Amino acid sequence: MRTIWPVGDGTRVGVIDQTRLPHELVFGGLVTLEDAATAIRTMQVRGAPLIGVTAAYGVALAMAEDASDQSLEHAIAYLSATRPTAVNLRWALAEMTRILRPLEPENRFSAAVAHAGEIAEADVASSRAIGDHGAPLIAAAWRRKGGDKPVEVLTHCNAGWLAAVDWGTALAPIYRAYDDGVPIHVWVDETRPRNQGAALTAWELGQHGVAHTVIVDNAGGHLMRSGMVDLCIVGSDRTTAGGDVANKIGTYLKALAAHDNDIPFYAALPSSTIDWEIVDGAAIPIERRDGREVTHVEGWTESGERVAVRITPKASPVENYAFDVTPARLITALITERGVCAASREGLLALFPERR
Ligand code: MRU
Repeated sequence: MRTIWPVGDGTRVGVIDQTRLPHELVFGGLVTLEDAATAIRTMQVRGAPLIGVTAAYGVALAMAEDASDQSLEHAIAYLSATRPTAVNLRWALAEMTRILRPLEPENRFSAAVAHAGEIAEADVASSRAIGDHGAPLIAAAWRRKGGDKPVEVLTHCNAGWLAAVDWGTALAPIYRAYDDGVPIHVWVDETRPRNQGAALTAWELGQHGVAHTVIVDNAGGHLMRSGMVDLCIVGSDRTTAGGDVANKIGTYLKALAAHDNDIPFYAALPSSTIDWEIVDGAAIPIERRDGREVTHVEGWTESGERVAVRITPKASPVENYAFDVTPARLITALITERGVCAASREGLLALFPERR
């Protein structure tokens, strides 16, 4: 199954409504530009690569309604404002602009559907290649510990196929290593406040048959100090040209703990996640989301009712930073579709020489 697909001539786009997982597998249909923007904003679709692909299809939906220059400019600006951190969004919109702007309006809709499809297919190919390049790192860690016990991997948030179109980024090497027969167990950070680890990564790994255990976000340091983690792999929402990695809030703390315990810490990302215009991660815009995600916890009762309960005093102010930046010096290596490289300008340029 994929996370997003065009239906018929592309005037409708199917998605998985990720706000309902793991309790219900519900499909949504996007028909208008507004539908696509709302799906991204409310995180029915989420994860850097999937946000980009959804935005590309959102432009196509806008072109189905009105393919004028003004409509194209509006769609690009409107979708661009949905979420600030994942650079894949702006990358995909720039790609759509490059293809559509020179065309006559009557040709724009079909070209937009075709190009959104190409962006989706390229993402699948990138994810698969990230799996191919990352799996040997997991197999090597397993051999280093003697090959008799499962290799222990810690991951944060959800960077699996739900966050992309298929395979994922951080989970792609895990799936590939597992499929190759490497015994593997994954520690899954719950990832407060939206619990992408507890809800989505746990569901994905379970569906694939990968052994895993969900832990509270603060448990990782203890596990690492206790010798219970062999390596960490996370995804990225924006990686700078200098190798700094913005990812889900809490990633930085895991990188610090890994560094203190000499545990390899990898970030896996397609090149659409690299922001070549920024070197220092401090320049990455960090999304701040609705405080309700902090004040309330949402879940399903045993009888299947979806409820939200308040956990903070009504009078207490809250803050909801959605991402943090892990400096390159804490990252052992980056895993990309072109191979594994040092988290540095030179490392990235060795894999992407056309960016020199
Ligand atoms: O807020 P989200 O759920 O969109 O954040 C997702 C993440 O932080 C992922 O780790 C990141 O997008 C990499 S996904 C392949």
